This record gives sequence, structure tokens and C-alpha cells, in this order.
Amino acid sequence: MKEEERSNQKRKRPRHRKARTQKSSSNPKDSDDHQVQVSKKIDEDEEISKGTSRSSAFLDKMRARLSGGHFRMINEKLYTCTGSEALNYFKEDPTLFNMYHTGYQEQMSHWPEQPINIVINWLKDRSPSLLVADFGCGDARLARNVKNKVFSFDLVSNDPSVVACDMSNTPLDSLSIDVAVFCLSLMGTNFPNYLQEAHRVLKPSGWLLIAEVKSRFDPNTGGADPNTFSKAICELGFTSVSKDFSNKMFILLYFKKKEKKSLKKTEIDWPELKPCLYKRR
Ligand SMILES: C[S@@+](CC[C@H](N)C(=O)[O-])C[C@H]1O[C@@H](n2cnc3c(N)ncnc32)[C@H](O)[C@@H]1O
Repeated sequence: MKEEERSNQKRKRPRHRKARTQKSSSNPKDSDDHQVQVSKKIDEDEEISKGTSRSSAFLDKMRARLSGGHFRMINEKLYTCTGSEALNYFKEDPTLFNMYHTGYQEQMSHWPEQPINIVINWLKDRSPSLLVADFGCGDARLARNVKNKVFSFDLVSNDPSVVACDMSNTPLDSLSIDVAVFCLSLMGTNFPNYLQEAHRVLKPSGWLLIAEVKSRFDPNTGGADPNTFSKAICELGFTSVSKDFSNKMFILLYFKKKEKKSLKKTEIDWPELKPCLYKRR
């Protein structure tokens, strides 16, 4: 074949294909088929997208279950070890701290009221010159919501304002603080050491505020007797000012530091505080 003929044939082929396409689209029967095919394709696409959203919902559910499981595991660990063990636990893997706090916030979102907000309002009713220590501050919400100078302590610091330490041993000077706050943070098995540390740093007549999970103080379900707990704190060197049991989820205890310690710490009979274990939702 001559070169000229070959190139003519090449040029003809696309015109032929175009003609066939035009023919098929102008035939009503072909057009119906086409519409059926198009609607079939749409149905298929919808099925695929439904399937995709179903499987992504399933994956989301699985992820939530997994992170809920991780939260419960870390939470149980914190309630069954000492503060220094908890500090090492998070030092080895600080990501566990964020995992814990994501789960904690999720749990808190189901509480009608958050105890930290009651502490915030209590402080707002008092002088902003009071120096505050927040023991086990979490995301330091207290410091962010009051005018007072707040020294925030937790096992891990995700914010420059938070000092990472075991709160049984803070860098605060003795007799330097007006208000010591423990909001759901008496977790370690050595919790009396945290209260002794609060006693050390508080000025005479300084305030000790404790918010704790109510179930830990329900003797009917293995919880401590709140009066025994309160008595032990008084023996450490505090006077009980008031108790608030009105909330369904937590109790609030308010103490003031006495001028002198009543008993040596070894002579105090502390009750055991049972862990607060969250149920799977
Ligand atoms: C249940 S969270 C409460 C956080 C915050 N107070 C609130 O009310 O939102 C308890 C916090 O106490 C901290 N914590 C427990 N034991 C501690 C310890 N020995 N030293 C410092 N922080 C501790 C935990 O890491 C956690 O962030």
C-alpha cells in the first residue's frame, strides 16, 4: 500500500466510528436501553455509596469501641497504682494520657453537671488574689476560667502552664497557697500523700476543696464512709467546713487548714477509696 493510501484510511476510521455513535443515539430503542443502563448505574453507585457509608459508620463504631476500651484500661490503671507508678506509666508512653483524656471528656459529656464548674464558680465568688493549686488539673480548665493565679499540676503537661509531676511532691513552697483543689483526682492508691502535700503547701486557714465521684463514697456498694474519710482529713490538720451531697454524680467537701496538725500522718486511719470504673456505653 502506498503511503498516501495508508494515511487516507487512517483519516477515514474516526469518521466511521462517529457515524456509528450518532446512529445508535438516534434510535429510540437504543436510547431506552441507554436510559435503563444509566439508571442501573445510578442505582449501583447509590448502593456502593450506601455500602461505603455503612462500612465507614461500622469502622467509626469499632474505633469508638477500641478507644473506649483503651480509656477504661488506663482509667483502671490510674486507680490501682501509686502516683509515682502512674508518672512512669505516662513517661513511657505519653500518648496514653491523651487517650485517657479523650475518654474522660466523653464520659463527662454525659454528666448533667461538671464538678470543676462548681469549683470555678466558688472561686469567682472570692478574691481573685487567692493563690490556687489545682492538683490533677487535666486540661487546666480551672486556670483558664478564673482570674486567680493557679498553679496547675498533672502527670503529663500538654501546656506550658501545667507542671508535670506526681502531685505528692510538687515544687510549691510550704505555706504558700490559699486554695488547694482536688477535682476527681484522688486516683492513686497513695491518695493520703496528695492530701499531705496539700497540707504542706497551704497557708494556715487555707482552703482544701475536694470533689470526688459519689459511688466511691457509697458504703452500700463497697464505697468508703464519707464521715470516716472526712475524719481522717481532719486528723491531718483540717476543719470540715461543709459537705455537699446534693449532686447525683459527685460529692463536694470543703475544709480549712488548722493552725496545727492534729495527728502524725502514720497515726491517721485512712479508709480505702475504691476505683471509679466506668461501664461500657
Ligand atoms: C479525672 S481527671 C480530672 C481532671 C480535672 N481535675 C477535671 O476535673 O477536669 C484526674 C486527673 O488527675 C491526674 N492525676 C492522677 N494522679 C495524679 C498524680 N499522682 N499526680 C498528678 N496528677 C494526677 C490525672 O492524670 C488526671 O488528669
